[in-house]
Amino acid sequence: MLADILPPKVAVKELGEDPPGVPHHPHETVHVASARPERRAEFITGRHCAREALRVLGVEPVPIPKGERGAPVWPAGVVGSITHCGGYRGAAVAFRGDVPALGVDAEPNEPLPDGVLRTIGLPAEHTMLSTLPARRGIAWDRLLFSAKESVYKAWFPLTGEWLDFLEADLTIDADAFTFSARLLVPGPVVDGVRWSTLRGRFTVRDGILLTAVADGHG
Ligand SMILES: CC(C)(COP(=O)(O)OP(=O)(O)OC[C@H]1O[C@@H](n2cnc3c(N)ncnc32)[C@H](O)[C@@H]1OP(=O)(O)O)[C@@H](O)C(=O)NCCC(=O)NCCS
Repeated sequence: MLADILPPKVAVKELGEDPPGVPHHPHETVHVASARPERRAEFITGRHCAREALRVLGVEPVPIPKGERGAPVWPAGVVGSITHCGGYRGAAVAFRGDVPALGVDAEPNEPLPDGVLRTIGLPAEHTMLSTLPARRGIAWDRLLFSAKESVYKAWFPLTGEWLDFLEADLTIDADAFTFSARLLVPGPVVDGVRWSTLRGRFTVRDGILLTAVADGHG
């Protein structure tokens, strides 16, 4: 699924469950030493997916510790992103020279719990959502949430800063399966260009919504 919504130079690995006996690294599992078993399992599978994807790039299977604000620490010259939700684990990696930023997010294709949209969506986004076609069977409010999380995962390694849900104004193109996020705060400077917008794609399959951001522009 991830490969469908990311550029060809991005390597991906996805799993639908936590396989037993996956090798894991003590420099990583220290971060989930006291976590509940389900959290520990998704963390280990996420790292496993990340290393498998790195292998596709030809990068040796190094530890991927948890860094500042929870962001994975990738090998030098690599960008990447990890996501997990019930029934899905995935990771995407690329060389920074090919893809400047990467963020992926998986969510169940179910409406957001009551009250959440009000806290994560701008008034313009509420209006935008109301124009999207209900017949597609996509929980558009959840898609908005996922797209914003993908935006944050791409944004954070570029800036090292927090980005609030209400600091990006998203537009979803239901026909093109794309979205764009207009930043309402100064954007990151990438290769000498200050990005004002991040762009992404989405897909839905087997009850899972997936969003990915790998691009931006001034
Ligand atoms: C960090 C966050 C995006 C994670 O999303 P989630 O749906 O809760 O969980 P997912 O399973 O999809 O992703 C979790 C993974 O994200 C990655 N992640 C965590 N913090 C991160 C950060 N600051 N930057 C990049 N990636 C991060 C990690 O790999 C993590 O998995 P791991 O702990 O097993 O390594 C979310 O919890 C969060 O804090 N959101 C608030 C900020 C935001 O989304 N703003 C919207 C701006 S428009």
